[in-house]
Amino acid sequence: MNRTRHPVCTSSLVIFGATGDLTRRKLIPALARLCAAGLLPSDLHVIAVGRRDITPERLTGIFRDEIERRNPCDTDMKNGFESLASHLHYLQIDPGHAGAAETFAEALKTIEGQGAAPARLFYLAVPPDSVVDFLKLVTGHLDRDRVDPCPARVLVEKPFGHDLPSARILNERLLNVAREDQIYRIDHYLGKEAVQNILVMRFGNVLFDPVWNRSTIDHVQISVAEEIGVGGRGSYYDRTGVVRDVVQNHLLQVLALIAMESPISGCIDTIRDEKVKVLRSLRPLSGGDVAKFTARARYSRAKDRPDGGDIRGYLEEDGVSRNSTTETYAAFKVGIDSWRWVGVPFYLRAGKCLSTSITEVALFFKAVPLNIFPATAGVPEPNALIIRVQPDEGIKLRLQTKIPGMTLKLGTVDMDFSYRKSFGSARPDAYERLLLDALNGDPALFLRNDEIETAWSFIDPILAAWHDPGKPDMGEYVRGSEGPDSANDLIAADGRACRILGSMK
Ligand code: BG6
Repeated sequence: MNRTRHPVCTSSLVIFGATGDLTRRKLIPALARLCAAGLLPSDLHVIAVGRRDITPERLTGIFRDEIERRNPCDTDMKNGFESLASHLHYLQIDPGHAGAAETFAEALKTIEGQGAAPARLFYLAVPPDSVVDFLKLVTGHLDRDRVDPCPARVLVEKPFGHDLPSARILNERLLNVAREDQIYRIDHYLGKEAVQNILVMRFGNVLFDPVWNRSTIDHVQISVAEEIGVGGRGSYYDRTGVVRDVVQNHLLQVLALIAMESPISGCIDTIRDEKVKVLRSLRPLSGGDVAKFTARARYSRAKDRPDGGDIRGYLEEDGVSRNSTTETYAAFKVGIDSWRWVGVPFYLRAGKCLSTSITEVALFFKAVPLNIFPATAGVPEPNALIIRVQPDEGIKLRLQTKIPGMTLKLGTVDMDFSYRKSFGSARPDAYERLLLDALNGDPALFLRNDEIETAWSFIDPILAAWHDPGKPDMGEYVRGSEGPDSANDLIAADGRACRILGSMK
């Protein structure tokens, strides 16, 4: 892997939520890979903290099994994990118990040894309703007044809060104990190569800006489709739903990068300022607009699958309430009230248990102003620019061309840039990149508080309206299908065609 070696300044990485799904599936594998690439300092302590009564050996075994199960052929990762395992510690601490903060402080000292306080990164990989509890353990170690080249930092997993009031409270509590530059609010989509590339594509080329507006763009479709269901996270997901899990953060971040104005420089805060402006310009959806411009649904049981795969409907999943009103799919028609975008609809959708996993942004251009070709040649199809975030990251530009032959016939072709073909298939996973940045004290790919709060201000009225009786009804779609018709209807009602997931591969 072609990677620059960063001077990691952190000596203790403390992960709260040690026995959770995120640590097992994402954080430990990312650390194992960083370790394999020699990007972690040899004296780093990785201190996993959780409420569960489990021995460090058993926890290491769980991590090892997960890596083996998901990456059976990845010898680098497996070797990396074995090196990492010798740095791993487990602390069983319930933040709700009296004296938990003192116990934690003592345990840290024992692991790290005496001497000057080392540079620590505290990663709160816990659900939003536990963040404040775990934060109490960290508070005494953040030292917001100390000026230090590599201060103690706290990294907070998404969703950041549950709604605007809870996000505000969380921001207040964090800012009481830490400076903004010590707070890392993660959205792992920002660590994906293809998401980082949106800015490079838009502002590293002169081609796009002149056509990136309402004069030439007809509409935009952003899709975050997942084949997987809620897996072992039923009880978390049932309190969250797709809007809080994916739309408020990942999808709106992608939208902001697509729609933002050019920042005055590459400096982090100027980029964040522009993203916030987009989020502020989202036309609010509330009351009657919610029924008109949004759709929600949950997956229902699939027919028997010959491969024996899971066919359960959402209400049958472990950890999900049988009376749940949580959505697993959401679609929106959104407007951006700015000179650049007014009148251009952005259709957004995200869902679980769909026919395929794909994240893409599709910008559809307007038709040519005058068709000069004879009817026999066919009508030129409007151009489209498809940014594929995953899998198989790349960019496609759909163009009209003459089909070779003795008569004039128009045809559609794609100019296709594929990361895999241009750069090979080795790319860091988003969590690898973000963990390394946080360990190194580089906040560029993390979120500022106002980005999160502005996103919640847009989302909260929609969720509130959904909880009014029947606005709009909860639809259903069969597990493994294209999703509910209601989502396609939002686009079809405007005389436009929804991207078919099956044809996007
Ligand atoms: C996470 C959500 O933030 O993003 C998950 O909690 C979702 O529910 C995941 O599956 C999608 O991320 P990725 O990187 O797999 O697209």
